[in-house]
Amino acid sequence: MELLVDKISKLRLERNAVILAHNYQIGEVQDIADYVGDSLGLSIQAANTKANVIVFCGVYFMAETAKILSPQKTVLMPDISAGCPMADMINVDKLKEIKSKNPNAKVVCYVNSGADIKAESDICCTSANAVKIVQSLPDQEIIFVPDKYLGNFVSTKVPDKKFILYDGYCPSHMRISPEDITKAKIEQPNAYVMVHPECRPEVIALADEALSTGQMLKKAGDPALNAFIIGTEIGIIHTLKKQYPSKQFYPATGKCLCPNMKLTTLEKVLFSLEDMQYEVSVPAGTIEKARGSIDKMLKVV
Ligand code: 13P
Ligand code: SF4
Repeated sequence: MELLVDKISKLRLERNAVILAHNYQIGEVQDIADYVGDSLGLSIQAANTKANVIVFCGVYFMAETAKILSPQKTVLMPDISAGCPMADMINVDKLKEIKSKNPNAKVVCYVNSGADIKAESDICCTSANAVKIVQSLPDQEIIFVPDKYLGNFVSTKVPDKKFILYDGYCPSHMRISPEDITKAKIEQPNAYVMVHPECRPEVIALADEALSTGQMLKKAGDPALNAFIIGTEIGIIHTLKKQYPSKQFYPATGKCLCPNMKLTTLEKVLFSLEDMQYEVSVPAGTIEKARGSIDKMLKVV
């Protein structure tokens, strides 16, 4: 493994590349990354990097967002087949149909969506800023796509607006059940319960807080808290333990695993830098339109 890490470090310099990794990536990949974070943090990094090449260790919509924000840069994915099933649950025809039925509504798209969906939306959001984004709009009617659970969570925080929710969801977060949370709370009665807003409402209801992965990492730094039950993809346990080695982190269940996030390996990162593969490309017209909704988001946060 040392050899692999050395080779990656050498090539990263030669290519003037930055390695960005999501909090759900396997530990070894997180450990060689220049930046590890949530979707919002990764977008900001991608927009501001001075590197010529971005090696994106995450899923497709994340790398695509990086390309939209930095179209002049080469964006590589070590495994281009790493998709997000939730993002694939919606397409432009379905979105256009909802828009035509709700002509007065503004479309807020979760960043977990394709570039074509972002291009058809008024503003983008991530799980870290969804409430703030919806509050920033003067409009009363909101079409929220594609995550019905994140959309529902936002609607509880912004009760004065009318929400039209799309029927998408994350199959991995869906696997966290209320019974898992109840059991974990019995086993660890003093632990603070943090779940992702992609969880089902009945799971969120049992938690102390619903937070993005980046917000969970920040909350774990609270000196008053030492033990946590974590209701999200288990990859984040590595990130949490690394940042707070003296604290205790208990996954609500081992079943919340995103197979796509686990496709990226150290070997694939090396091959990616060696062969400059696999390049993410987005048509110029789509970039321009999709960028509008992402830029609007970045102005709010
Ligand atoms: P975060 O932006 O909170 O890291 O979430 C991304 C994601 O895909 C959650 O499933
Ligand atoms: Fe998509 Fe869920 Fe995986 Fe996140 S955890 S990338 S929402 S499938």
